[in-house]
Amino acid sequence: MPFFPIPFMKILVTGAAGQIGSELVPALRSRHGDENVIALYHRNVPNDPGEQVVGDAGDRVFLESLIAERDIEEVYHLVGILSARGEENPDLAFSVNMGTLKNVLDIAKDRKKAGKPIKIFWPSSIAAFGPTTPREKTPQRTVLEPATMYGVTKVAGELLVNYYFKKYGIDIRGLRYPGIISWKTPPGGGTTDYAVEIFYGALNGKEYVSFLKPGTYLPMMYMDDAVRATMELMEADASKIRVRTSYNITAVSFDPEGIAAEIRKRIPEFKISYKPDFRQQIADSWPRSIDDSSAREDWGWKPSFGLPEIVDDMLKNLGPKARAGGAPGM
Ligand code: SER
Repeated sequence: MPFFPIPFMKILVTGAAGQIGSELVPALRSRHGDENVIALYHRNVPNDPGEQVVGDAGDRVFLESLIAERDIEEVYHLVGILSARGEENPDLAFSVNMGTLKNVLDIAKDRKKAGKPIKIFWPSSIAAFGPTTPREKTPQRTVLEPATMYGVTKVAGELLVNYYFKKYGIDIRGLRYPGIISWKTPPGGGTTDYAVEIFYGALNGKEYVSFLKPGTYLPMMYMDDAVRATMELMEADASKIRVRTSYNITAVSFDPEGIAAEIRKRIPEFKISYKPDFRQQIADSWPRSIDDSSAREDWGWKPSFGLPEIVDDMLKNLGPKARAGGAPGM
């Protein structure tokens, strides 16, 4: 990675068992040292050889004492209920997504007053956009009227982190992640999940029934790029961070037919069919492609995985796992 040496930070990652957390934690550990990165799990602790704590990021007293006891300097606050699951339980999505973020921000505010500032990473999403947003090359600054509760919490969260930066001087940085494709931990409860599930279909039964219809283009990114973007953003000099709501970032845009065609180049018998469900409406309210020029100009963002590289890497790594029967689901 193109990083310069930096002093080790004491880091806490919430939502550590999630799709992004399970890959960001090892990356942070190899950068900052195993002993400096604490993974916070909600209930179940996966097979994690490093430092870990079980607890609820919604419990302010617990979170505050954990941060104080361990002298945490950076928090990657990844807890969140995604778009599709959020539509099944909007109240839960609101209370988890907003409640835990408010806790982290208020703890940071108090620590700052006490002379112990915390730097925060918080993920926004393409879900912050909505049906009234321009859908092609969606700009950094544009209409934000999301149609999902997940999106509502992302817009509210963006405004809240920007407010805490301006009012209390807390160094908070964020990315509007597109759909993330990865093989280690499946996503759960998202609308872009089809782009991961399709690989399990291709490797298991050589077929996949897509819950999004052909022509549904969405912006996507490979996990390696998403992890690198997160770490590069957090290590960028503060003077370069000119967007404090959250940065647009993207790597590729494709539809279910496009990714199926790329898989078929490697597995010719692979078949895709279509049975759109309620997630189609969510996808139809999101951008088809993203303009991430602010991230490129401000802190040098550049993706390295295109669709052929993503498909190669997914099939190579997921092969043994998929054949062993692992399969994602909502
Ligand atoms: N991947 C997320 C979802 O589909 C978008 O941020 O909900």
